[in-house]
Amino acid sequence: MKNETQLARLGLFDAKVPRYTSYPTAPHFADTIDDRSHARWIAAVPEGAQVSLYLHVPFCRRLCWFCACRTQGTASLGPLESYMQTLEAELALLRDHLAPGVTLSRLHWGGGTPTLLDAAMIERLAAAIAEVAPFAETYEFSVEIDPNEIDAPRAQALKRAGMNRASIGVQDFDSEIQQAIGRDQSYEVTRDAIEMIRAQGVLSLNADILYGLPHQTPQRIAASVQKLLSLAPDRVALYGYAHVPWMARRQSLLPSDALPTPAERLRLFETARRLFRWDGYEEIGIDHFATKDDGLAMAQRLGRLRRNFQGYTDDPAEVLIGVGASSISRFPQGYTQNAPATSKHTGAIREGRFSTARGHAFSAEDRLRGRIIEALMCDFQVSAAELVAGYGADAADLRRLFTQANAAFEGGLDVSPEGLRIPEDMRPLTRMIARHFDSYDHSGAGRARHSSAI
Ligand SMILES: C[S@@+](CC[C@H](N)C(=O)[O-])C[C@H]1O[C@@H](n2cnc3c(N)ncnc32)[C@H](O)[C@@H]1O
Ligand code: SF4
Repeated sequence: MKNETQLARLGLFDAKVPRYTSYPTAPHFADTIDDRSHARWIAAVPEGAQVSLYLHVPFCRRLCWFCACRTQGTASLGPLESYMQTLEAELALLRDHLAPGVTLSRLHWGGGTPTLLDAAMIERLAAAIAEVAPFAETYEFSVEIDPNEIDAPRAQALKRAGMNRASIGVQDFDSEIQQAIGRDQSYEVTRDAIEMIRAQGVLSLNADILYGLPHQTPQRIAASVQKLLSLAPDRVALYGYAHVPWMARRQSLLPSDALPTPAERLRLFETARRLFRWDGYEEIGIDHFATKDDGLAMAQRLGRLRRNFQGYTDDPAEVLIGVGASSISRFPQGYTQNAPATSKHTGAIREGRFSTARGHAFSAEDRLRGRIIEALMCDFQVSAAELVAGYGADAADLRRLFTQANAAFEGGLDVSPEGLRIPEDMRPLTRMIARHFDSYDHSGAGRARHSSAI
């Protein structure tokens, strides 16, 4: 790897860079795209196509201080019941717009905390989704699970609904760090939740952990990673903690003076990364690890890894439909985003229309740049032949673009007639290299959605 001085000179520690789960990134969506565009793009999904569905539940019983997700605290099932009715109505609207024969290659319930729904609600929601489209023959249904918010009846209901993957929020096992980030969760609670899920026959398990938390040291993150490894997750997302208190106000409760410096963050990441590698995990893109026979690892080997709003995916579907407040959909024509506020979202659905607040229609240039960025984020390389054949790019223009990027990174990239490759020692800079191909202005817009490049 390049040493810290070299990485610092290339700007790694002072840059705020998007995570590129879309291109253009969400701050560049505009209100020129509305519910009519969304309805039209849904109606254009071909008969018999496979699509992905993302369903958002923006409620939590606890509001962890570190969390940057838009979510509302609730102590009772009341607000959830009313949100359930909105989801059922939105799903019925979707069914009315969708061509016959569509099946689901992926279904993901995220949040917030979807497991706040009780067993009866889980069954109702699963039934409403089945009315829209049945699962494809090989499907994946994953659910984000807060270990504090799961019990046997809910795990059984999810399994009956077809869940075959679970994603568990861990963050860190260290009790001082947990106190500092307002998330109390013992090792035993996490272990028991995982055992309960596996007992249902759900064998594929992801865990989220964070680096860059207050009081975190290489020793402490190593201890947390060892504990996590004892639970043998199939996949791990190792996210850099994004400290954005101007957007997630409860983050101001964190002791900001105990946050690691950017250079320390790099060391924390490297410590955790080395431990996953030693344990035989394959590195997936910039921040995931997976066992060799996991779907993401296989997709990466076959060059089929993709990037979407949930991070890395092996989903082959062209269309991802987001249901629920703030959810984003992706169509071949562009992106649409539902109204972020639950009240606005519910209001629109009650009027019998989608709540689309913003979006973006792709230009040919968006598609080309979006593919370059996705390929760099997934494979650390981009093939000129693919861009010429699939995106109408001109080989000489590409060569010029890649050469300019190489010059901006002091000749540290590999440019050849085959395309562009980010060598191993430059990989901490991947998001910055991707940003080089982003033609939208990031100087002011979306400050809240950017995090440090490491
Ligand atoms: C939307 S949360 C849902 C997880 C579930 N509610 C739970 O608490 O276990 C999904 C993941 O987002 C990540 N996340 C939340 N806030 C973050 C932040 N400020 N920086 C980086 N990752 C964050 C966490 O790792 C979390 O597990
Ligand atoms: S981490 Fe999970 S439980 Fe905590 S506030 Fe965020 S979404 Fe809610």
